[in-house]
Amino acid sequence: MHNRILSGIQPTGQLHIGNYLGAIKNWVKLQEDYDCFFCIVDLHAITLPQNPIELMANTRSVAATYIAAGINPDDCAIFNQSYVTGHTQLSWILGCLTPLGWLNRMTQFKDKAGKHRENAGLGLYSYPVLQAADILLYHATHVPVGEDQKQHLELARDIAGAFNRHVGKDYFTLPEPQIFGHATRVMSLRDGTKKMSKSDESDYSLILLTDDADTIMQKIKKAKTDPEPLPESVEGLEGRPEADNLVTLYAAFTERSKEFVLAEFGGSNFSRFKPLLAEVIIEHLKPIAEKSAQLNSDQSYIDQILRKGGEKAAAVAKQTMAEVNQMIGLIGSDF
Ligand code: AQP
Repeated sequence: MHNRILSGIQPTGQLHIGNYLGAIKNWVKLQEDYDCFFCIVDLHAITLPQNPIELMANTRSVAATYIAAGINPDDCAIFNQSYVTGHTQLSWILGCLTPLGWLNRMTQFKDKAGKHRENAGLGLYSYPVLQAADILLYHATHVPVGEDQKQHLELARDIAGAFNRHVGKDYFTLPEPQIFGHATRVMSLRDGTKKMSKSDESDYSLILLTDDADTIMQKIKKAKTDPEPLPESVEGLEGRPEADNLVTLYAAFTERSKEFVLAEFGGSNFSRFKPLLAEVIIEHLKPIAEKSAQLNSDQSYIDQILRKGGEKAAAVAKQTMAEVNQMIGLIGSDF
């Protein structure tokens, strides 16, 4: 059986180090061994209001970031979700097989809908069904994501199972989540119990991949911490979410374990540790920011990559949709 990867990021703003460490950095490694489809999930982005001009700019800029971070567009399909109509077609079919009870358990919907649940859009609610369609459309075997997506991937497996039972054969492969690396859940720099997120109101809660050296230094220096020095062992990080997050970041950017980092910095104050952490991040992100800026200045190149990736993806999607329509009993355009 082929090993194929599908993963994506919403073009809801500039990407941050959570998106990078939880997803993109792992994709760069995996591209050697898998047939890869890396999507910019613009249809997911519109589950919350987006400015159309900014959405297009963000879509191109996310594509540029993928390439700048090391994704090879000659080997991997880099494309935006709305280019391939199969995502929404399959999403509808899968939605018809998804019990509401399954969707009601999704914590991302509860978080994003907040207190105004009754006013939340249907798209936000059915977001995980579209995500299942993204994956199944390409018969992806593996999905590398950050921890926060674990629940959605379990649902995608359940939906694949529901479809297979409905058609009476193992048509869809159950996709395996790949949640690995030193930082599978990067936390906000302002609150170590909250995930770092593009939509956070505070600029100081996150480090963007495009932040310059001064900004990164400032954000790390202002990051919330507690008054204690760093512990000598990982157990000492328990109950200290902000300290844990900063040590995790150092470990992830230097590709070492937290034990290793604490062996070096245990007993140090944050006033010593923070500037060194900022330096490590600055060094790592500098080439990515430079390459992104260069790519962003050439829109026609990015559009050409998106078109090429979109065509490759559309060819696979077309085949899947022809088969799915047939199994379900729909006389689609491929009939
Ligand atoms: N804090 C994080 N730590 C580790 N991984 C993360 N990811 C996101 N935040 C973290 C991973 O990045 C990929 C793309 O996520 P997304 O942008 O599609 O959706 P998201 O998880 O909702 O990201 P944000 O930043 O929180 O965006 P908004 O604020 O727009 O909703 C996924 O693999 C995710 O796991």
